[in-house]
Amino acid sequence: MVRSLDGKVVLGGTERGLGTPLDQQLMRELRSHADVVLVGAGTLRASGASSRLDDPALEAVRVARGQPATPTAAVLSGSGALPLERAFFTARDFEAVVYLGREAGEERRAAVEATGRRVVVLPDGDPAPALLRHARHELGARLLLCEGGPSLNGALLAAGCLDELFLTVGSSIAGGADVLTAVVGLQTPRMTDATHLALLSASTHPDGGELYLRYRVLPRA
Ligand SMILES: NC(=O)c1ccc[n+]([C@@H]2O[C@H](COP(=O)([O-])OP(=O)(O)OC[C@H]3O[C@@H](n4cnc5c(N)ncnc54)[C@H](OP(=O)(O)O)[C@@H]3O)[C@@H](O)[C@H]2O)c1
Repeated sequence: MVRSLDGKVVLGGTERGLGTPLDQQLMRELRSHADVVLVGAGTLRASGASSRLDDPALEAVRVARGQPATPTAAVLSGSGALPLERAFFTARDFEAVVYLGREAGEERRAAVEATGRRVVVLPDGDPAPALLRHARHELGARLLLCEGGPSLNGALLAAGCLDELFLTVGSSIAGGADVLTAVVGLQTPRMTDATHLALLSASTHPDGGELYLRYRVLPRA
């Protein structure tokens, strides 16, 4: 995730413009390690999504490791209300999987399947563990990178399904009263209920003014 100095992860409806080109390059490097790149449907609707690296050198590293040049893209949607005209559904240079809730219904499931993308209907209940089980056992994924947004981050954290967090802190103040932060949906009425993380590394970019943070999520007490 990339956020402004005051913690906002959206600017004018999308995340675009929050990170510098170096932040975007670091995101591509993170992607280069992933087997699956997952986003929530809100992010796909807001700004599109793909798992592309757009970097021949990084693609070559993956191929040399025996991986496909581009990781598999994945989206989680309960409703199935998805922008089927987006590259996520129409592109053929990367594989993609659509995880749907049962509430999406037959018609929407069929419409997604008609794009040629693989559809997995998750069982009722918390979708996060079921999604990760499928990615591990059916897609053979060892490393899944979640690129947000905040609701999906919250769902994965609540289910104890996040191991690490990479966070870029920009040097601009975005403002706004009801603007999304990196995680929403977690119920933490007291600090003792909060999720704690251990800082693994912190580095800066002298020109761009960004701070690049890597955390490990600590187990709940
Ligand atoms: N700054 C950054 O680094 C960054 C990164 C990513 C995104 N963003 C921004 O974040 C915004 C979108 O965030 P968001 O929180 O609204 O959306 P989101 O987390 O991308 O997606 C939320 C959607 O995912 C599905 N979903 C998530 N958890 C679920 C669960 N437990 N069960 C069933 N479905 C679940 C639902 O889809 P349905 O509604 O289809 O049921 C839900 O509405 C966009 O403006 C985007 O630009 C910023």
